[in-house]
Amino acid sequence: MEQYAIKGGNPLVGEVEIGGAKNAALAILAAALMTDETVLIDNVPDVSDINAILSAMQDLGAIVTRLGRHTVKINASQIHTLVADGEELKKIRASYYLLGALTAKYKEARVVLPGGCNIGSRAIDQHIKGFKALGVDVRIEHGLICNKAEHLKGSHIYLDVVTVGATINTMLAAAMADGQTTIENAAKEPHVVDVANFLNSMGANIKGAGTDVIRIRGVEKLHKTEYTIIPDQIEAGTYMFAAAVTKGDVTVKNVIPKHLESISAKLMEIGCEVEESDDAVRVVASKRLTHTQVKTLPYPGFPTDMQPQITVALGLAEGTSTVTESIFENRFKYVDELTKMGASIKVEGNTAIIDGVSRYTGAPLVAPDLRAGAALVMAGLAAEEYTVIDNIQFIERGYEDFHLKLQGLGAKIDRVTSEKELQKFKLKVG
Ligand code: EPZ
Repeated sequence: MEQYAIKGGNPLVGEVEIGGAKNAALAILAAALMTDETVLIDNVPDVSDINAILSAMQDLGAIVTRLGRHTVKINASQIHTLVADGEELKKIRASYYLLGALTAKYKEARVVLPGGCNIGSRAIDQHIKGFKALGVDVRIEHGLICNKAEHLKGSHIYLDVVTVGATINTMLAAAMADGQTTIENAAKEPHVVDVANFLNSMGANIKGAGTDVIRIRGVEKLHKTEYTIIPDQIEAGTYMFAAAVTKGDVTVKNVIPKHLESISAKLMEIGCEVEESDDAVRVVASKRLTHTQVKTLPYPGFPTDMQPQITVALGLAEGTSTVTESIFENRFKYVDELTKMGASIKVEGNTAIIDGVSRYTGAPLVAPDLRAGAALVMAGLAAEEYTVIDNIQFIERGYEDFHLKLQGLGAKIDRVTSEKELQKFKLKVG
């Protein structure tokens, strides 16, 4: 019974160090399978989704050595199976990157259909379209996606929707295909760029990542590298919004401010002060937040992974706000939980209409998925009295030491595993 116990009501103040980007790391770790030489990857976040993909890579025969909490050495010269179907893997979305990486190197792979947060139907048709265009025979059999090709041949691929996953997967396979591949309508997220930079550091030839046209000239072999993953834009954004909802003063450190522009812009719009320096952003919220409109969009738009966090903030803002989710169709499940705290939010189709209330009150809550779970923690930190959050394993998929980092900012939060520990927490915080 792991839960977060929170006593809300005090502003978060201080500095917090941001870790490596989970969604970049998932793809980069899988891509490390594409060479027989040893790869050293730094700034790998220690979260459960990462541990799931690393253990799946070990099951395939990769030698994974941790040189520290955030540094991993991988050697994939002894892969002994091309079937990835472990139980842990079924729970994560990024299992599909194993498919791209193994198909690139071995022209064959069978990987369990992706799981991940339940935030919509999460199709994989564009991944399949990319593989097929490169000459792969793709079948779905017995719950596995089965890829097989005689050889991979460069191609021209237009993605019908902007998708991070299919852009990266196509890039992985095309990196070792014969000839040139062009991906049009590619996703431009910072982690797409990070994966391209990682592959290039192994000898791939990828140009244009970060724009909507990526050109890849396939190479026969990739080689060893040492690489540091970029900071996690969403982890940073979550602490920035935590400052806003608690009327705090938080500096997120070790970030790339450019990646946070859409988040900083919305914070300023709703009345926060945002100060940027080279690798840090400070958010100060000294007055009541004001209403706004926001729509989630592919990068550089406002990220869908920050949608629950901004909704929690706008729930406390003066006036009526709207939040429109344009990426995933089922990402408002947490609204019922917020309602238990006194929020006034109505969801119509893919838009939440929010009438700001002056306060939230603590309540027992259930985290429905990773980002919504983090947003509920933020609501608990802003609320009066106690909030207890269940299903925190979702939150731990993507936030390293969440409660410890929040404690470092002065939050009254603990991770408890029994009723006794919960009572102890209540006694401690008063
Ligand atoms: C990645 O999911 C992230 N996950 C998500 O983060 C993130 O919300 C999302 O990108 C958008 O930024 C990982 O990186 C593991 P998409 P992914 O492919 O790859 C549609 C988190 O909280 N689509 O960019 O699944 C799809 O339905 C998680 O860290 C197709 O139609 O997202 C969606 O509407 C949650 N066909 C849109 O594209 C496809 O073949 C964007 O999806 C693929 C996607």
